[in-house]
Amino acid sequence: GGLITLDPGYKNTGSCKSAITFLNGEEGILRYRGYSIEELADKASFLEVAYLLIFGELPTQEQLDKLYKDIKKESHVDEEMKKILDGFPKSAHPMGVLSSLTSALIAFNPSAVNVESDEEMYNAIIKLLAKFPVLVAWTLRKKNGQPLDYGDSSLDYVDNILKMMFKSPHEEHYDIDPVVSSALNKLLILHADHEQNCSTSTVRIVGSSHAGLFASISAGISALWGPLHGGANQAVIEMLENIKEDGGDTKKYMGKAKDKEDPFRLMGFGHRVYKNFDPRAKIIKKSADQVLDQLGVEDPVLDIAKGLEKEALEDSYFVDRKLYPNVDFYSGIIYRALGIPTEMFTVMFALGRLPGWIAQWREMRLEKEPIGRPRQVYTGENLRDFKDISKR
Ligand code: CMC
Repeated sequence: GGLITLDPGYKNTGSCKSAITFLNGEEGILRYRGYSIEELADKASFLEVAYLLIFGELPTQEQLDKLYKDIKKESHVDEEMKKILDGFPKSAHPMGVLSSLTSALIAFNPSAVNVESDEEMYNAIIKLLAKFPVLVAWTLRKKNGQPLDYGDSSLDYVDNILKMMFKSPHEEHYDIDPVVSSALNKLLILHADHEQNCSTSTVRIVGSSHAGLFASISAGISALWGPLHGGANQAVIEMLENIKEDGGDTKKYMGKAKDKEDPFRLMGFGHRVYKNFDPRAKIIKKSADQVLDQLGVEDPVLDIAKGLEKEALEDSYFVDRKLYPNVDFYSGIIYRALGIPTEMFTVMFALGRLPGWIAQWREMRLEKEPIGRPRQVYTGENLRDFKDISKR
């Protein structure tokens, strides 16, 4: 073989060309298909952003209506899938349930897509956009021990998700709170894509073997689960709770985060690419204040979070390493105010990231990218003689 360039964690390796998301980590800029994240979060709906990411342009009203009409037609999840859900204990982590159910969709909706056919490609994408929110709602209802609830075709995409998640079996109607709806729209938009992060790279690499769309997405969900990636939103709230219970001593935890002997990290801080403010964190911090205010929720961990942020931004350890709050630092505080349990936070991230994963998978297949197959530098033993088991 030729000379191998070693780059653990792919810190300096571009894995593909992509026209979907622009990210400038030095300046803290994020754009989907050329539109600034700030403007999209403020003005667009999540479904519009999904269309933009996947198909490249903002939809006309007619295109958006057609997309949603097609989604509604596909929003039924096979009855047998419920048996799979029933098989999980209530204590199962929702991310494990979600990735399993997404994978199980393959049994009922063959996902081997002929990418030469626009129609097959479109149908697979629609199916996933339609069924995934149902699975998300199921994972929550499982946690809450509530019977499954089906969608309401009179509602828009995000409001329908809220109803599927939260309508209690005792109430006849479920009223959408516009504050909750708009906060969720914004959060989902902010999570919708982030170029070649760990889960997206996973989706692309699994898809590069021509495994189907659902299988690739299921793998992406598993990658997202970890606390260094999407699982950080759950880890942040757990950390803030711990600090609160420990008397709110933020200095002590700052000390732990800086101590190289201590494995503790300040969750929700630092990013592989952003060496400046994560633009999503800025929007989410503002939104957390607004949402808590509008919903009349007082959450003491918000003050702890703000205190930690302030201390970190003035501390040379964090300043020298350019560690800033990332997207996960304040998002959990909003999810919590919306009534979403902590274990569901990363599921909400997955719901938001779905369009990005789909867009990246589609681009990868349309560009006919080769199978992803990195090399290695071998560091093991040279050739050895086999020793019989009695002589070892
Ligand atoms: N707390 C304390 N020290 C940190 C932190 C942190 N959160 N993040 C990085 N560092 C230190 C790290 O110890 C290292 O120090 P030194 O140079 O002295 O060895 C330096 O900063 C560089 O860190 P790294 O681990 O080499 O950087 P990375 O690019 O491999 O990791 C990261 C990026 C996001 C995994 C990391 O910053 C981290 O673990 N953060 C906490 C988890 C988190 O919030 N993850 C969410 C990421 S954003 C959205 C998402 O993907 O979901």
